[in-house]
This record gives sequence, structure tokens and C-alpha cells, in this order.
Amino acid sequence: MCGIVGYVGAKPALDVVVEGLARLEYRGYDSAGVALLSDGRLATAKRAGKLINLRKALTESPPPAGTLGIGHTRWATHGPPNDRNAHPHTDCGGTVAVIHNGIIENFATLRAELEEGGHTLRSDTDTEAVAHLIEDELKTAGDLAEATRRVCGRLEGAFTLVAVHTGDPGLVVGARRNSPLVVGVGDGENFLASDVAAFIAHTRDAIELGQDQIVELRADGVTVTGFDGLPAEVKEYHVDWDVSAAEKGGYDYFMLKEIAEQPRAVADTLLGRIGADGRLTLDEMRISDQELREVDKIIIVACGTSFHAGLIAKYAIEHWAGLPCEVELASEFRYRDPILSRSTLVIVISQSGETMDALMALRHAREQHAKLLGICNVNGSTLPRECDGVLYTHAGPEIAVASTKAFLTQLVAVYLIALYLAQVRGTKWGDEVFAMVQLLAQMPEKVEKVLETMEPVRELARSLAGEHCVLFLGRHVGFPVALEGALKLKELAYMHAEGFAAGELKHGPIALIEDGLPVVVVVPPRVRDVLHDKIVSNIQEIRARGARTIVIAEEGDTSVEPYADTLISVPAVPTLLQPLVTTVPLQVFACELATAKGHDVDQPRNLAKSVTVE
Ligand code: G6P
Repeated sequence: MCGIVGYVGAKPALDVVVEGLARLEYRGYDSAGVALLSDGRLATAKRAGKLINLRKALTESPPPAGTLGIGHTRWATHGPPNDRNAHPHTDCGGTVAVIHNGIIENFATLRAELEEGGHTLRSDTDTEAVAHLIEDELKTAGDLAEATRRVCGRLEGAFTLVAVHTGDPGLVVGARRNSPLVVGVGDGENFLASDVAAFIAHTRDAIELGQDQIVELRADGVTVTGFDGLPAEVKEYHVDWDVSAAEKGGYDYFMLKEIAEQPRAVADTLLGRIGADGRLTLDEMRISDQELREVDKIIIVACGTSFHAGLIAKYAIEHWAGLPCEVELASEFRYRDPILSRSTLVIVISQSGETMDALMALRHAREQHAKLLGICNVNGSTLPRECDGVLYTHAGPEIAVASTKAFLTQLVAVYLIALYLAQVRGTKWGDEVFAMVQLLAQMPEKVEKVLETMEPVRELARSLAGEHCVLFLGRHVGFPVALEGALKLKELAYMHAEGFAAGELKHGPIALIEDGLPVVVVVPPRVRDVLHDKIVSNIQEIRARGARTIVIAEEGDTSVEPYADTLISVPAVPTLLQPLVTTVPLQVFACELATAKGHDVDQPRNLAKSVTVE
């Protein structure tokens, strides 16, 4: 969602800010704008649509050069995505410029009050009110930081704000509540951004900002205080990837690169967690073994693709750790009355660590004294900071909106947690855990093997580009894989796609089957005889009714051959680990089909990489 960039230093600010916005494009947006301070004057430019429109406007009418600037990519919430509603927004006098990520819930009241006080607001946004409120506060506050602090005290909802003022042309002020904001610390220059990708080409040293903090950014220093004005403790960290990781590296799309990176991402997520004796060590767990032994229930909350990782986790946790496990969409969890206690472990899975519903669910669980464990891919994000323990997925930056490598690494993380619980709680013998860990260690190689055999899947995808609907069926852990396959197709190809539990076929989905309808079926390994045979029956049932069957089964499974119009073979792996190999063809399928339809798979329409508002 909205991307924020702020810069102060010695370089031409316009270049730094626009380049930063380009690196945040992946977040999803529908308009963009910049504001520069130069010779005590404020210049702004904003355009609806993609960054190319803003670049064109800046070329046609270049703003005066300056070394301080802010920029924004907007994902519209209040008011349509047009030039007028694009950020930055300015006050009546054109001396204050503000950009914002989040939703100011009491903006209508504030706006009415401002208009009554003589202000003229020119946009439909909630953000513009902030520029005018700062304008008022500056009359008595003395400086921009204090004015912003006072305004924050009046705002309800989620907001990350960045403001500049002609009265102090060397200062950028940021304020953070709920929506993401990080500081990049350079040499004689400093940065503010929604995430580190925006400034990674300039510095890998960053500072996490906490909830309700104000940062004052000058070329020679960074000061962080709380909304209460008191100095705040900050956490500095070094980003462990460089700019090349956030570039396409010869691929047409980030998504293609990220699919290809999966063997490495899986290996990196396992790295350092398996001891020579086969025992697992999860350093960042920060929840003691004794506390884990006292856990009597696990609840997993997540959104989107991360939710599907949670669904798979349930099978692994119940099977290996013998603990009851519920999985819930974060947006549903927080608005019901879940029964939690001190012995409940709530696991929140989020690639970005910034998804608003996931964070709100986490806080809801915290209020009820549950223990909190995060699975997260982004160092410095909110989720790990607010959890008791964290397991990082070392997927590296995931830029394409549709999650691929992050999903596979989330699976690795949940397997590690389930096995760790089994180890600590003694629900499996040490050698059983060891044997499973050994199999897990072979997964990078298995995923690589899948990737080597994807050409027929790409061909199939191209041949189906004219279809309007694809169904996906699976059982056991194959069911969440079916859901994920359908989600990928919706996200990328904008097609009607549904995932169903194959056992539910006769309770509805079978009515959808008609001549030629493509149905993808994820078949469990033959070792799970009962389920395997039942799903083979399902394939026959849908084929008898005209479905075009696309069957994903383990190599050597000849029993499905007679009923598969297309057979996609994946390496044989244990049932619980099978999603690591069966998901990959579905990612490739969706990516290729969407590309054949001419879609931009990195930035699908209407979607955002990280949903930072409700
Ligand atoms: C958005 C993204 C999805 C992602 C979901 C959850 O919808 O487009 O790819 O799975 O958010 O994101 P998270 O960062 O919490 O895993």
C-alpha cells in the first residue's frame, strides 16, 4: 500500500526520492507525488497513475533543485486516484507539505472544524486535514516536530505521517502509529521510508521506529522522541541484503526471479537451525522450553497466502506436537471473542510484518495474555518487535505482490516450529524428529528438481489463457495448496478460481463441472493409501462429467495416469512436506497464464504487497 520516502542530505533530493518511490512501486499504488524544499520554497508535483506519469510531469516542468524532499505512492482509500487526491498535500499558505499512509478515522470531524476555521481544503483525502492542522499548530508550537506531535494527539486511526515546512528547510519530520516507517542512516544524509528497499542503494544501516514515535531527520543527525515528547530508545540494525536482491537480475518479472530463488530461500531458512546432533535450535524463539511445555492450545492467525501457510501448519503441529491448533484469518479473529489464556500460543504469520489485521490480531491476543510467536520475513518490521519470540524466514526481499518464496519459507518455519515443539514436549522420539529434520534438509534439492521440469506447465498455462474458470481440489495438506493455487490465479490472471477440499466435491462443487472445465487436482503421496485412493476416485468422478483434469502427483504414481488429461509429476516427499513441491507448479502456472494474458504479474491490478490499512 502507500509508499513513503523522505530524504535530506547533499544529493539532488528529487533523484533520490523518485528512485526510492520506484523501489516501493511493488507495494501497490495508483498515484504518486513529490515535494521538494528549495531556497525556502516548497515545490510539489503529483500525478494519477503509475510513476511514469509523474516522471513525465517532472521532466516537462522541472522543480527547482533541492537537497530535501519527500515522495509518496498512494493506494486510494478516501477519494478517487486522481491528481488532486495524490499526496503530498499542502496547507492554505503552501508552506507545509504532508504525506501519509493509513486511515485517519476522525478526519470528517477535523475537516469540518478546519473549514469552519476558514481553511480551504482542496482534496477528498483524510490526509489533507493534517497539513492544515499543522499550519494552525505552527502558530504556537515553535517548530514542526512539536506541531506534528500536537496534531498526532488529535488523530484517530492508523497513520504514518511525514511533513516538511518552509520555516525549517533542513528538517523532515516523521510520525508513526501503526503504519510502517523506518529510518536509513547515511553519511551526511538520512532517509525515511515505508521499507528499506527505498534507500538500500544508499545505506544498509537502519533504525526501527516504534509505535507513537516522532523522528526528526536532518542531514547530520536523527532524533527520535515519543508522542509524549520524551527521548525514545531506538533499535539500530544492519540490512543483510543489498540492492541487487531488490533488482530483477535479468528476469522479466520479480515473480519469476522469486520463484527461481525458492531452493535458496528454503535452504537459508533452514540454515543454522539444525545442530550437528540433529536437534533444532531456534535462537530467536525467546519463549522458554518450559513455557512451551505449558502451552495447551495454538492459534495461528494470518492473511492471504500466509493464512494458507497457517492452514498447513495445523496438520504439522497436530501430528508432530500433539497440540490442538486452530487457524484463523486475522481479520475475523480480532472481531470475535476468541478464548485465550496464558497457556495459549498465538502464532502470527506475516511476510511483511506490517499487515494491519495481523498486527491488530496480535495486540488482541496480547491483551488476553497469550504468548506470541511471529513468523516474519522483514527484519525491522512491527510484528517481530511486538512478539515474545520470532522465527525469521530468510527469503530475502519479496517484491512481486503475489507471494511465492516467502510462502515456501513460511512452510519451512512452521515445520521447524512443529518439530521444535515435538522435541521440547517429547511428543516424538529424538530420532523421529532427527529423521524428519533430515528430510526437511533435502527440500531445497527437491524444489530445484520441480523447477527444472516446469516447461510443460508453462505450455499448459498458455493453452488455458482463454479460459474463464479453473477449479483446484486437494485433501489434507493438499487442500490449502489448492486454495493457494486458486488465490494465485485470481491475483495474477483475474480469473474465477476456487480451491475446494476434494472430500466436499459432492456437497456442491461437482455442480460446477462442465465440459472442458479445467480442474487441478493435488494428489497425496501413495503412502497415504486411504486419501490417495479417495482422491483418485474424485478425479474419475469429475472426468466422467467432462472436466479437463490436471493432476499433480508424485513421480512414479502410475495409478492416476489413466484419469489425467495432463499429469504433472513432483518428487516423492513425505505427506506433510508435500506442499513444498506441489505449490511450485501452481505458482508457475498462474504466473505464465497471467503473462500470456498480458498482465503485469509483479503489480496486479488493485492489489498491494502489504495491506497496511483495514
Ligand atoms: C497481501 C499480499 C499477499 C500476502 C498478504 C498477507 O494480500 O498481496 O501476497 O499474502 O497480503 O501479507 P503478509 O505480509 O501479512 O504475509
